[in-house]
Amino acid sequence: MDFDFRNMERMDRYKLMVSSIVPRPIALVTTISRDGIVNTAPFSFFNAVSAEPPLVVLGLEVTDYAPRKDTGDNIRDSGEFVVSLVSETIAPQMNLCAMDFPTDEDEMAQSGLTAAPSTIVKPPYVKESPVSFECKRVVTMEVGTGNRVVIGEVVYMHVDDRFIDSEKMYVDAPAMQLIGRMHGRGWYVRTGDAFDMPRIDYRVWAAERDRKRGTRG
Ligand SMILES: Cc1cc2nc3c(=O)[nH]c(=O)nc-3n(C[C@H](O)[C@H](O)[C@H](O)COP(=O)(O)O)c2cc1C
Repeated sequence: MDFDFRNMERMDRYKLMVSSIVPRPIALVTTISRDGIVNTAPFSFFNAVSAEPPLVVLGLEVTDYAPRKDTGDNIRDSGEFVVSLVSETIAPQMNLCAMDFPTDEDEMAQSGLTAAPSTIVKPPYVKESPVSFECKRVVTMEVGTGNRVVIGEVVYMHVDDRFIDSEKMYVDAPAMQLIGRMHGRGWYVRTGDAFDMPRIDYRVWAAERDRKRGTRG
C-alpha cells in the first residue's frame, strides 16, 4: 500500500512514521527556564547528524492537547541544552519526565533523578545516565504549525567511568544498556541484541569475486 503524505491527516502520518522509523534513540533533554527552573523531557525525534562539527538534532512537536513544549521555549531563550541518554535502569524515571508537568515543576527532582552540574552550559545533566552531551544551539527551525527542529553542537561529554576506556576512546555500548523507542505509545527496545558485520573493502571483495569467476570459467 502507498501513502501520499500531502493529502493525509497529521496523526495518520505521525503513526506511519513513528511505527516504521525504529528504533529511535531517546534524548532526555534538560534545559533551564528564564526563572531558573530545570526542565527535563524525553525526545525520540533525536539523533547525531554530524561528527565534524559534532551536531545533534531534536524534533519538538506541538499538538492541540500539548500546544507548547517548555524544552523548545527554554532552548529559544537560553541557547543551551543537555542530552542524557536513557538506559534500562532509568527508563521509568524517563517516562515520568514525559508527563505534562506544570512549567514551574522540576521533572528531574520529581522523578527521583539527580541533577549533576554541567561544565560549560547551565542546564545540569542526569547523573544516573551512562552518557550525557552538553550542547549549544546552532539553529532552531520553526516548521509546520508551531513545531521546532533544533540543531545543537556538542561542546562537552560526560561518560560514566564504568563504560569508558579513555586510552582507546572506547565506549562499551552494550554495557550501557541503552533503550530505544519503538512503534506505538509505550513500546521500547533494549540494545542487548547487537550483531557484528564488519565493513567490506571493495578491493578485497572484487578480488574474491574475480577469483570465483575465474574458478567457474
Ligand atoms: C520516549 C518518549 C519520546 C518522546 N519523543 C518526543 C519527541 O521526539 N518530540 C516531542 O515533541 N515530544 C516527545 N515526547 C513527548 C514529550 O516528552 C512530552 O510532551 C513532554 O511533556 C514535553 O515536555 P516539555 O514541555 O517540558 O518540553 C516523547 C515522550 C516519550 C515518553
